[in-house]
Amino acid sequence: MSDAVPDLDRVVKEIAEEMRQRPDRGEVASYIPELARVDSDAFGLVVIDAEGRVAAGGDSETPFSIQSISKAFTLTLALGMVGDRLWRRVGREPSGSPFNSIVQLERERGIPRNPFINAGAIAVTDVILSGHQPREALGEILRFMRFLADDSSIVIDEAVAASEQRTGFRNAALAHYMKSFGVIENPVDFTLGVYFHHCAISMSCRQLAMAGRFLAYSGRNPATGHSVVPPERARRINAVMLTCGHYDGSGEFAYRVGLPGKSGVGGGILAIAPGKASIAVWSPGLDASGNSHLGRIALEALTRRLGWSIF
Ligand code: DON
Repeated sequence: MSDAVPDLDRVVKEIAEEMRQRPDRGEVASYIPELARVDSDAFGLVVIDAEGRVAAGGDSETPFSIQSISKAFTLTLALGMVGDRLWRRVGREPSGSPFNSIVQLERERGIPRNPFINAGAIAVTDVILSGHQPREALGEILRFMRFLADDSSIVIDEAVAASEQRTGFRNAALAHYMKSFGVIENPVDFTLGVYFHHCAISMSCRQLAMAGRFLAYSGRNPATGHSVVPPERARRINAVMLTCGHYDGSGEFAYRVGLPGKSGVGGGILAIAPGKASIAVWSPGLDASGNSHLGRIALEALTRRLGWSIF
């Protein structure tokens, strides 16, 4: 690295230490009972640059529930399966509403605003499921995550999936409501089962940053040079992450961090600095929009220090 570029590893470790000491940690999600058991003091940050260098700080190897971050990957898979026909089943506009909101569905004939709110992600899962058994669809999603992260140890946390299956009444309502408009084609229980399980995939910051590399490098895995998606598709997925990846907090995230990002209620965020880095951060405490409180603050510090905002 040239002298002008601050040492990435030092910056990442400094930020992890700063975050570890902060008293404001947000609220750990409790509407999925199993998630409430997670330690709110945990913090991890991993940055993988274009040369494949890994800069890691804090609890970078601890697996956590990726929850809605999985939606960036199911979107990628569904686009690979049906291409632009996907956009007949789901929109790509920010909703300005909470992640589990139902209000727009009635006015918009059961078509969810975007693939990242729960309704939209359930519709995307239904596309992946089409004509398959839930077990096969789930296997497809898990294989994709393992392939992207180059790590066969990634698993689904069955306790988290079962916990959400028992308490996911809102998601069940969203799915049944969409079914009434014909937007869900498979049996609702099948679609929901696959959705709850892909949200319950457990990954560390390192594994997640590895999995996100194709989005940072024009659809290619920089380590192998293999194309995962065409460059245009990677750009478009990043665009949807920028505008919709943090729900009604997407404007604030773009304003403060200036990168495409996808959050999950497990407290993780995958952020993409196009051409520069794939970044994963984890801090379980959430803000009012259900996005990681310190995760966002850490990313804001990182992009400011490195000059990585896309704007
Ligand atoms: O469907 C749910 O409510 C969860 N499985 C995922 C929600 C989520 O991660 C929202 N993100 N911040």
